[in-house]
Amino acid sequence: MGLTIGIDVGGTKIAAGVVGTDGQIGARSHRDTPAGSVDETAKAICDAAAELIAGHDIEAIGIGAAGFVSSDRSTVLFAPNLAWRDEPLGARVQETLGLPVVVENDANAAAWGEFAFGAAKDVEHMVCLTVGTGIGGGVVIDGELLRGEHGVAAELGHMRVVPGGHRCGCGARGCWEQYASGNALVREGRAQAESGSLAAAQMLGVCGISDPAELSGPMITKAAAAGDACAIELLDDLGRWVGEGLASIATLFDPSLIVLGGGVSAAGDLVLKPAKRAFERVLPAKQNRPHPGFGLALLGNDAGLIGAADLARRH
Ligand code: BGC
Ligand code: NA
Ligand code: ZN
Repeated sequence: MGLTIGIDVGGTKIAAGVVGTDGQIGARSHRDTPAGSVDETAKAICDAAAELIAGHDIEAIGIGAAGFVSSDRSTVLFAPNLAWRDEPLGARVQETLGLPVVVENDANAAAWGEFAFGAAKDVEHMVCLTVGTGIGGGVVIDGELLRGEHGVAAELGHMRVVPGGHRCGCGARGCWEQYASGNALVREGRAQAESGSLAAAQMLGVCGISDPAELSGPMITKAAAAGDACAIELLDDLGRWVGEGLASIATLFDPSLIVLGGGVSAAGDLVLKPAKRAFERVLPAKQNRPHPGFGLALLGNDAGLIGAADLARRH
């Protein structure tokens, strides 16, 4: 009893699972995220959930969505990297499935998952950064998710880190997620390969490809794990951007713990170590203040799914 469904809607995958009150996932279902179509995305979400509802007694559904979510946790106002614009996702899914639906920002959901059941189980103040296609942020203060007046607080990926820098999917320039995301990693990797650097050519060889356009984030992570120098340097740069940005975040929220999640966290120490080093170096008043802990998401890529399911239960 007490089962809810959590659904994590990412740029490429929709992952759903039945979650108990202990945060454990039972059955799972998956769909690809249909590119560019909000109608097909809603349908894929409903299909993934329906598959699970058929075999379980489900109370409610929580959806983690990669975008700005309204304060009533029902509408996706905007998604920089997906097609949602004022999308009444919660109402649509609720109508189709006949169960209560809560929509939460994907990174907020991941932060909540880690806070309730994962790396931040024993703290009251935490920041979770999900580094994947974009950068997501979730902030828990005094045991509560920070949502702000309009539901869109903690959009950490759109903090400006480079005035006049790369154009972002949100329309602004120089956002953090243009420097420290999976997309940024691939952009830099391709640029190096196209510049004809020998080290980058070697990396493509390790990845088993010849066309830089085929390069992906997971390929770079694998090449780095296999010791490729170019890939290691790319992840090192990424980690540095992550750590320097987090130093600013720590000045705002004074968390006890910073948790790194999302796809890029699969690189583990290859990103975490340079991030921590950069963080410790640039943290303002670093010798005169307590530093937060720093760690990887314990629930890995399931954090958002588990968090969304728990938030649906609590709603
Ligand atoms: C979006 C966030 C989301 C993050 C990670 C950002 O581009 O603005 O809402 O949490 O990507 O998916
Ligand atoms: Na967020
Ligand atoms: Zn932006």
